[in-house]
Amino acid sequence: MSAPQLRSLRPVRPAVPEDETALGELDRATWSTLHAVQPRPQPPYGPFFDDRHPPGEFLVAEAVTGAGPVRAAGYLRLGRPTPLACNSHVRQIQGLAVADWARRHGVARALLRASYAEARRQGAGRLTLRVLGHNDAARALYASEGFAVEGVLPGEFLLGGRYVDDVLMGRSLTA
Ligand SMILES: CC(C)(COP(=O)(O)OP(=O)(O)OC[C@H]1O[C@@H](n2cnc3c(N)ncnc32)[C@H](O)[C@@H]1OP(=O)(O)O)[C@@H](O)C(=O)NCCC(=O)NCCS
Repeated sequence: MSAPQLRSLRPVRPAVPEDETALGELDRATWSTLHAVQPRPQPPYGPFFDDRHPPGEFLVAEAVTGAGPVRAAGYLRLGRPTPLACNSHVRQIQGLAVADWARRHGVARALLRASYAEARRQGAGRLTLRVLGHNDAARALYASEGFAVEGVLPGEFLLGGRYVDDVLMGRSLTA
């Protein structure tokens, strides 16, 4: 089957339980040691949503495709770095993936911008994330959205036989 052709993007929306299948498939299709620190998913696959990853923490970008139907093009998970009250002004991007066929059409940028609005709505003033040092595409994306490198954990992960840095980035939501 040929890859869908992206025609236009729908406004980013909150995820709902019915997104389970599409987001699970998207997550597995985009798995790579470029961004994932978990092993490649193997069947039988676990649920995409569970108690620790509820739909309410996810934003979804959908695209109208040449093949006709509207399809999930990407998702972003917005969570709290810790449950501490003294850390409650911070939100963290804890997952971001865009389907191969939808890349370089502004899907990730739209998801990020929707996450700023959602984080602000929740009262946050700061947004952080972690990105692997060798993930050039994601690092370029975050830099272009105003995230600064705030720390580096050298050789934090052994992935595909190579030690990879964990890069900590953040940006203010108040400026
Ligand atoms: C990184 C990723 C999310 C980007 O998604 P995308 O929808 O293609 O990104 P966008 O189209 O919104 O791109 C926005 C900007 O990011 C940068 N960018 C995105 N992909 C890039 C690439 N392959 N190379 C260099 N810069 C890139 C560019 O600055 C781009 O702006 P431009 O298109 O005007 O030049 C996507 O490649 C992906 O899902 N990768 C695998 C999962 C992943 O790495 N997630 C991040 C985990 S921290």
